[in-house]
Amino acid sequence: MSMVKTAEEIMQIRIACRICREILLELGRRIGEGLTTGELEEQAACLMKERGVRSAFKGYRGYPGILCISINEEVVHGIPSPRRKICSGDLVSVDIGVVYKGYYGDCADTFLVGEVSPARKLLVAAAHQALEAGIGKAVPGNRVGDISRAIQETVEKFGFSVVRDFSGHGIGRSLHEPPEVPNFGVAGHGHLLEENMVLAIEPMVNEGSWAVQILSDGWTAVTADRSCSAHVEDTVLVRNDRAEILTAI
Ligand code: MF3
Ligand code: CO
Repeated sequence: MSMVKTAEEIMQIRIACRICREILLELGRRIGEGLTTGELEEQAACLMKERGVRSAFKGYRGYPGILCISINEEVVHGIPSPRRKICSGDLVSVDIGVVYKGYYGDCADTFLVGEVSPARKLLVAAAHQALEAGIGKAVPGNRVGDISRAIQETVEKFGFSVVRDFSGHGIGRSLHEPPEVPNFGVAGHGHLLEENMVLAIEPMVNEGSWAVQILSDGWTAVTADRSCSAHVEDTVLVRNDRAEILTAI
C-alpha cells in the first residue's frame, strides 16, 4: 500500500485532525486541580459523540481508555481513572486519536497545572521546540531520519533525552501506518518523504534518562528513573514546499 494519500483521503483526514485538535483544546481548558483523569475521559466521550467521531485508541490492541493521560513521570499510555486526581504542579499529557468516517487524526499536548516548577516548564518548551524542528524537516526529498535527527538534536541541546521505545507513525485509514517516525536517528537515513504523505510526529521528552518501564497495568509507560516526561504530537501533511499541520486550528 502506498504511503502517499489521494486528495479524497486527505480531505477526510483533514476533518478528523481538526476535530481531534478541537476536542484536545476543549479538554485543555477543562483540566485543573482536583479533576480526575476519569472525569476528563468522560468529557472526551461527550465531545466525541457531539462531533460524530469515535476514539482511535479504545480497543486498539485491547487498550481500555478513550484517551491516554500521562502525568509527570508517566511518559505515554496512562489509563484514565476516577481514582487519579490532578494536582497543582502536575504535567498532564493528554493524547487523543479520533476516527471520522474511517479516517484517523492523532494529536497530544502537555498541560501545566497550577504552580509548575521552572524545570518542568522548560521540559514542555523543549518538547514543543523539538516537535517544531521535526515538522520543519517533513518536506519532500528529505528522509524520515532528518525528522528524527532534528527532534533528538533539539531535545539533547536542552540536556534532556528522547524516549526510544515509542515512535511517531504514518496515519490515515488506520492509526499506525508506515513509515515509523522515531524520535532519534541519523539525518539522511530512512524512508524518503514524498508529497501527500501524512505523518504523526510525537516526541516524548524525559528530564533524565530515556529509559522507560511499563507498569503492571500492561500499558502505562513511566521513566525508569521516575524523572518527569512531556509528550506533544501533531499530524502533518507533507506538501511540496513545507509541512502543513493538520491538527492545528
Ligand atoms: N499517539 C499514540 C500513538 O499513536 C497513542 C496510542 S495509544 C493506544 O501511538 F492505546 F492506541 F495504543
Ligand atoms: Co500517535
